[in-house]
Amino acid sequence: MNTDTYALELQQISHTFSDRQKSVHVLDKISLTVNKGEFVSLIGPSGSGKSTIFHMIGGLLTPSSGEIYINGRQVTGEKGLISYMPQSSSLFPWRTVEENVGLALEVEGMSKKQTLQLAREWLPKIGLGGYEQAYPHMLSGGMQQRVAFLRALLSNQELICLDEPFGALDALSRLEMQNWLLSVWEEYQRSVLLVTHSIDEALLLSDKIYVLSDKPAVIAKEIVVPLERPRHEEMMVRSEYLQVKQQILSLLKNRQT
Ligand SMILES: Nc1ncnc2c1ncn2[C@@H]1O[C@H](COP(=O)(O)OP(=O)(O)OP(=O)(O)O)[C@@H](O)[C@H]1O
Ligand SMILES: [Mg+2]
Repeated sequence: MNTDTYALELQQISHTFSDRQKSVHVLDKISLTVNKGEFVSLIGPSGSGKSTIFHMIGGLLTPSSGEIYINGRQVTGEKGLISYMPQSSSLFPWRTVEENVGLALEVEGMSKKQTLQLAREWLPKIGLGGYEQAYPHMLSGGMQQRVAFLRALLSNQELICLDEPFGALDALSRLEMQNWLLSVWEEYQRSVLLVTHSIDEALLLSDKIYVLSDKPAVIAKEIVVPLERPRHEEMMVRSEYLQVKQQILSLLKNRQT
């Protein structure tokens, strides 16, 4: 395979939701790329169409126009090619925690015995040792999110799409999870596309950030994060960090103009 191809490429994606009463133009010619092994964030106002973009990448929704490429292949409308963590927890209530973690791998053909072994190995690393056989309703919202996150991460798909994976976590657990995600990503070098509302989160984790405008959303700006790796929190006080942060803030603030 041509190694120059992107892990993900969106070309001129536009979308309008219509029903009998009205139509809503949500996305307007969105083009973006995720290189192999790159960590990319998508930041934008609520309702701008970020989750809609993810539904399209996952093949759950076909764009009104435009094309989606994964590893250089046109896949618009095809399902099952990415690992996807949706915005709301998607755990199956009738499956235990460890069975939920193993689900994506089972779908990919791994034996249940192997998936459970992997789940038992990983759950303690996200602070959920002892909860292997619990059911989702016995967990807090943040714990449920961690299970969904681990499931997405363990799937063998090369591209991981995370839709606000840390939204329900308190500041401290959020920081811990960000650091954990960073260390896993640095080790495995998967391609990640992350939706977040947190500018700090986007800056700390990403190589590249796309800032979306209000709907109909266009890419307001593509920003290459000027920080070396490994990343650490002390970088948040650097002048180049604060400068980019300010830039993103004003893009989001001035979005109506
Ligand atoms: N199935 C649908 N039918 C009609 N309109 C929809 C549908 N799904 C989403 N929308 C509309 O599209 C717009 C974008 O929604 P989307 O969920 O993608 O926003 P978002 O950027 O993910 O927002 P948030 O940050 O709040 O999660 C919203 O105005 C929403 O009402
Ligand atoms: Mg959303």
